[in-house]
Amino acid sequence: MPLNIFKLAVLVSGRGSNLQAIIDSIERKELNVRLSIVISSTKDAPALKRAEKHGIETVFIDPATYPNKKAYDKALIDKLEEIPIDLICLAGYMRILGEEFIQTFSGKIINIHPSLLPAFPGLNAQKQAVEYGVKFSGCTVHFVDEGIDSGPIILQTAVPVYDYDKEGSLSQRILEQEHHLYPKAIKLIVENKLSLNGRTVAHKKS
Ligand code: GRF
Repeated sequence: MPLNIFKLAVLVSGRGSNLQAIIDSIERKELNVRLSIVISSTKDAPALKRAEKHGIETVFIDPATYPNKKAYDKALIDKLEEIPIDLICLAGYMRILGEEFIQTFSGKIINIHPSLLPAFPGLNAQKQAVEYGVKFSGCTVHFVDEGIDSGPIILQTAVPVYDYDKEGSLSQRILEQEHHLYPKAIKLIVENKLSLNGRTVAHKKS
């Protein structure tokens, strides 16, 4: 393995379909990175099995064994600094990262969210969109800052919301797009094609 290969960590808590999309992009050689570690906050996350199947190192860091959120985040930081990591991708990671974590890896953490931010941040974004009655929703990849789904936006894809949609059908339509969008955003970062100006992410001309 070349010494200077770009190293990714993916943080998960559940199903891991976005993790799978990242793994598939790496295996198709569309993404020139090493997925160094997958860290889960839940023991039986299907995401862990997906990673193991592809020979990727996994670790479950159990929130129940730490006295508080700060101590848990410190364990995460220590693990990631051991490697060390170039980019941390949150993919269905269900814990809110504290200030120390965000500052330690400032500009190196990204997340995918199933709405067109800033609309519908937080939990159940697809349900929020259906209930609000919007005609378009979608997905967003953004840098992570200290707020909830509030960091600078890297890429977005819009999808239509139909009259007959329920949370499940809209989630499925959005998820298909997430699986294209997340690897695409990672690729832009790996290839150093982005620059950050305030909260605006600009795409450098090549
Ligand atoms: C995705 O909808 C993602 O946008 C959100 O959590 C879900 C994770 O799904 N942050 P998966 O675990 O990647 O299948």
